[in-house]
Amino acid sequence: MKKFFPKNFLWGAATAAYQVEGAASVEGKGVSVQDSKNFSNAFHDTTVTSDHYHRFREDVALMKALGLKSYRFSIAWTRIYPDGRTLNTQGLNFYHQLIDELLKNGIEPLVTLYHFDHPQILQNQFGGWYSDRMITHFLMLAETCFREFGSRVRWFMTICESNNVVLYPDLIGGVPEGVDIEVWRFQVSRVMALANARVIQLCRKLLPEAKIGPCIGYAIAYPATCAPQDVMAALNEDEFRSFYPLDLLCLGRQNPLIISYFSQRGIDIRLPQPELNEMNAARPDFIAFNYYQSDVAKACPTEAEHVQPGFNAEGKQGGFIYPSFPGLYAGDNNPFLERSDWDWEIDPVGLRIACRKLFDRYQLPLMITENGLGARDNLINGQVNDTYRIDYLKKHVEQMRLAICDGVPVLGYYPWSFIDLMSTSNGYNKRYGFVYVEREDGDVKTLARYKKASFYWYQNVIASNGTLLD
Ligand code: BG6
Repeated sequence: MKKFFPKNFLWGAATAAYQVEGAASVEGKGVSVQDSKNFSNAFHDTTVTSDHYHRFREDVALMKALGLKSYRFSIAWTRIYPDGRTLNTQGLNFYHQLIDELLKNGIEPLVTLYHFDHPQILQNQFGGWYSDRMITHFLMLAETCFREFGSRVRWFMTICESNNVVLYPDLIGGVPEGVDIEVWRFQVSRVMALANARVIQLCRKLLPEAKIGPCIGYAIAYPATCAPQDVMAALNEDEFRSFYPLDLLCLGRQNPLIISYFSQRGIDIRLPQPELNEMNAARPDFIAFNYYQSDVAKACPTEAEHVQPGFNAEGKQGGFIYPSFPGLYAGDNNPFLERSDWDWEIDPVGLRIACRKLFDRYQLPLMITENGLGARDNLINGQVNDTYRIDYLKKHVEQMRLAICDGVPVLGYYPWSFIDLMSTSNGYNKRYGFVYVEREDGDVKTLARYKKASFYWYQNVIASNGTLLD
C-alpha cells in the first residue's frame, strides 16, 4: 500500500470572504447579498466577522506557522466591483497585498472567484443568478482577477457549491417574487454552468498555465435500507443533488432523470445543443468538492408533501429538518453514525466513497476544498483543547489517503476553516477553525487569535506529509 501523500500535495485550509473579512463597507466596498442579510437572524452580521481584512498579515503569519502549503480564499465581488460594473482599485489592492503576503511566506493561493456574495444591486435589477445577464458581470469579475492576479495565482475555482445554492436559495439572495422555486433551481443551474464554462474558456485564453475547476458540495447518499425502492431513492438523490449539476459543469450533458422529473411538473428543461456544446468544450482541470457528511435517502411517493431541506438552528441534536422531494427521495438519519450537535453526520469512510464515485464518473483529479467539524469551542486560559476536531480530521485524512491508495488522484486538502469565522447557518456559536478568534455573536470582544490543539496536530500532519497518521 502506498504510504505517503504525493510530493507537492497541497495541504491547505479554507475561508470565504464574507465569513472572515469583515470591513463590509470600507474602502469602496459595495453591498453584497450577504451584507443585506445582516441581522435578518440573530447572528448574521458581516460587518466585522473575524476582521481578517485588517489583520491579514497576522493571519498569514499564523498560516506560515501552521506550515500551510496553500490557502483557499474567495474574492468579495463587491470589493472589486461594488455595483457589479465599476472597478474599485482599493478592493483590488487588498487582494494584491494578500496574495503578495502569501507568496512571500511560501503559501500557494487557491482563489474562489464566487462564494455566495454577489452585488445586491444585481439581485435587485435582474434577480442575480436567475438571469443570463449575470454571466456578463461574472466574466467581468473573472477577467479582472485573471489579469490582475494571474501572474501570481496558479489555482482558481469558479463558483462554490453551485449545486447546494439551488437547494438553499437564501444563500444567494433568494428566489425573486412570483418565480416558481423549481423553475428557479433549473435556471440557476443552467446560468451557473454557462458562466463556469465561459470563465474556464477565458482562463485558458488569458492564463494557459493556470488550473481551474468548479466546486460542489457533495454529501453522498446511502439507501435507508436494501429495499430496491430505497436504493433507487439514493440514486435519485445523487443524480438530483450532485450529478445533474456536475454533468453540466464537467461533461456538458443533462441527466435524463432530471429532465423527466421537471417534465412531470410541466417544465421542459432541455437545453439547446449549442449551450451543451459550450459546456462540453470547457473541460475543467479538476473537480473541487466540499465534504462534511453523508446523507440517507428513502423512497418518497409522488403524493407525499414537499419539504425543503432545513437546518438545525439551535445546535441541539434532533433539530434538523430532513427534505422530502415527492417522486425522488426523502432524507433520514443514519443510525450507524455519530453526529455533530447540529445533526451533521460524521462519516469519514463516506469521504473515500465520495472520491471513488466522483473519479469513477468524471475521470478528473479531485481537490477536497472543505472538510471540518463545526463545534462549540471553549477558550480556557488561552487554550482550546478541541480533541473532537482532531479526531474528525484525522479520520477523514486517513480515508483520503486510502482513496489515493485506491488510485484516485487527489491534489489537495483544504479543511474548513483556517480560522474561526461566521458559520453560514449558525454564526460564531459553531466554529471550525484551527485558530480561535475571541469574539461571540453580537460581541466582537478583542478578536485576538489563539492556536487550538488542532492547529498543532495539523502542523505535524503537514510537516510529515501525512505520515504521522500511522
Ligand atoms: C459550505 C460553505 O457549504 O459549508 C461554507 O461553502 C460554510 O460557506 C460551510 O461555512 C459550513 O456550513 P455552516 O452553515 O456550518 O457555516
